[in-house]
Amino acid sequence: MNKRTELKVSAIRNGTVIDHIPAESVFQVFKILQLDSTDKQVYFGTNLESKKYGKKGIIKISDTFFKPRETNKIALVAPNATLIEIKDYEVTKKGNVRLPRQIDEIVRCFNPKCVTNNQNVPTSFRVTKDHNGEMKLFCKYCEKTMGKENIEFI
Ligand code: CTP
Ligand code: ZN
Repeated sequence: MNKRTELKVSAIRNGTVIDHIPAESVFQVFKILQLDSTDKQVYFGTNLESKKYGKKGIIKISDTFFKPRETNKIALVAPNATLIEIKDYEVTKKGNVRLPRQIDEIVRCFNPKCVTNNQNVPTSFRVTKDHNGEMKLFCKYCEKTMGKENIEFI
């Protein structure tokens, strides 16, 4: 018997599949890709069993193909996500998301005194890593560095 978890969410004809999302990050990926305002068909599953990651989420968006600029932002909350493109039911492209070097606009600065929290200035962060390899965001305005635990999406 075939027990592949992905069969729990039906196949799509054309579009993009984002697989291996940590279960708790599925809704953040929705937000990052602005899927609340799409008029295309969107399917998702969360808390699916995954051999590699314990519990995972998956999102499938019909008739939509993203630019790396859009999908790379997902790496903030889903660094191991797999991006799959489907054309006529066949997998035509498969790859991993990559953290961009810079994150603009989608994340709020955690420093209440930062100009981006007090004037109409869009946020901009440089993506860095600390000595433990943990991802950090360095605010270009107030020059403070925040960790994953402080990330809040705008
Ligand atoms: N998929 C889909 N619609 C299709 C074809 C594939 O939604 N018409 C989805 C599958 O559900 C799967 C992903 O795209 O989640 C990748 O498909 P495939 O490479 O065939 O699956 P696996 O070999 O199981 O991939 P992996 O081992 O990387 O999970
Ligand atoms: Zn700041």
